[in-house]
Amino acid sequence: MFMNVWYTAAFSKEVEQSPKHVRMLGRDFVLFRDAAGAAHCLSNVCCHRGAPLSQGRCHEDGTVACCQHGWRFDGNGRCILMPGAAAGAAIPAAARVDAYPVEERYGLVWVMLGDDPAAAAPIPEFPEWGAEGWRWLEYEETWDANYHWAKFSNLDYVHLPIVHGQLWNGGTRPPAHEVEYLDDTSLASGIYVKTKRAKGLWSMLRKAETEVRSRLRFYLSGLTIKVDVEIGGAGTGMRFIALDMSTPIDERTTTMRFLFGRNFLTRAFADKGHLNRNLKNIREDRAIAEAQLPKVTDIPEPGALMTDPEDKMVKEYWAILAKLRAKGWQIDQQAASLAEQRGEYQVIPSPARRVDPSNWVYAVVPRTDPGAGVGR
Ligand code: FES
Ligand SMILES: [Fe+2]
Repeated sequence: MFMNVWYTAAFSKEVEQSPKHVRMLGRDFVLFRDAAGAAHCLSNVCCHRGAPLSQGRCHEDGTVACCQHGWRFDGNGRCILMPGAAAGAAIPAAARVDAYPVEERYGLVWVMLGDDPAAAAPIPEFPEWGAEGWRWLEYEETWDANYHWAKFSNLDYVHLPIVHGQLWNGGTRPPAHEVEYLDDTSLASGIYVKTKRAKGLWSMLRKAETEVRSRLRFYLSGLTIKVDVEIGGAGTGMRFIALDMSTPIDERTTTMRFLFGRNFLTRAFADKGHLNRNLKNIREDRAIAEAQLPKVTDIPEPGALMTDPEDKMVKEYWAILAKLRAKGWQIDQQAASLAEQRGEYQVIPSPARRVDPSNWVYAVVPRTDPGAGVGR
């Protein structure tokens, strides 16, 4: 798993002025909203005696108070009040927990888990979200699957006819396509295919065989896939967009958050059908991702089995992650597991640790040696 990446931590509507526990990258965090409405994300383990902040409560001063002795932490992770301390006593420098950059976009709370926000890839732009003439649905589920397997459930065109029965020109072979880099950490590809009349409610849009344009993009931020299909046929402007974002809860568990947008049939009556079409695909993808072995997988060794065209996008996905490893941003999971077995708690480093590396109660997670080569 990788740090210095923006991940989705929750839908905005789930974060209120009461603390919410979230697990990501095998660590524990608390999300809360201050009195002004700003969302915050802190390490959930209190620096005093390790009680969970998420079992405490929020106060009007914009803090979250620990459940055991009531130390209050602001959105920067600083303890600003110790109810049991002697009057006038100074607050120790180590009375702080890691705080992570938060942004709210697309109805989601995004958190940058790492210590170098300037180096992290930005949250992608999705101008269609919130734009006039678009209707969006939200959906979330947690899969018993490694996040790579979960992500690969939509990162190629070849599985569509095999898993979802969506044929290309009546067959299983997708047209030739290239993958381009939009920037260092984002990929795009596009294909045109002749497609039959649509089924169900969508048949109102596509009454006959026509050419349909489909674009697939991958963004490192949020581990996001964007599927953009001109569902009514090329040139109609009637588009369906699926955004799926994956957050590794740990190496074996992944929360999938989906945003489904359409700029046609935008009244509520079409929502159920729209969601059900997507739920069918999600069910099919999930069954495979949860059955894939090994349960934990990692960047493959050079020369690993990959084919064209199904692995075009997957190959570049691994290349992007290999760049993160070369930057020293991969958590060394084996060393982290050993520390856990010894009963230690390690945190994802936050930006404040770069400014002042001393006076922290918990050590940071170990990182994979960038010089150790590909694969572990
Ligand atoms: S354990 Fe949190 S205030 Fe004491
Ligand atoms: Fe799929």
